[in-house]
Amino acid sequence: MIIAVASDHGGFELKNRVREHLKERGIKVVDLGTDSEESVDYPVYGKACAEAVASGKADLGVVCCGTGIGISIAANKVKGIRCGLCTSVEMAELTKKHNNANMIALGGRTTDPDLALQIVDRWLDTDFEGGRHQRRVDMLDEM
Ligand code: RB5
Repeated sequence: MIIAVASDHGGFELKNRVREHLKERGIKVVDLGTDSEESVDYPVYGKACAEAVASGKADLGVVCCGTGIGISIAANKVKGIRCGLCTSVEMAELTKKHNNANMIALGGRTTDPDLALQIVDRWLDTDFEGGRHQRRVDMLDEM
């Protein structure tokens, strides 16, 4: 499995934490930047990560900005992407079970980093439930 990660400056530190955590889990990680705390534009990085997932270059993606909001909006504009902004472990579980999220977004300025890693783990360790949720996911993918 390959997971792509990306962030703007507001999510830079958290993105690095997530990257190292994923590597510790034995997962191959592609880091699409940013590479410093210098101010950059989150749509660029949300789009890059989403395109990596949508094209199949990566299986899943994790994006971080200050709140996770802007970069999740950017990612969700790419066809085939279902990026869930998660601020709790419960949201991480439900965005996989119900939305089959192929990306999650995290807030580097709003979510404690230890909680963020628990969110990542729960999302990865939860399965999509299918059933009625498949129909709704199909509707999303047709938009
Ligand atoms: C950057 O200052 C900040 O606006 C960005 O990281 C993010 O929070 C946007 O949603």
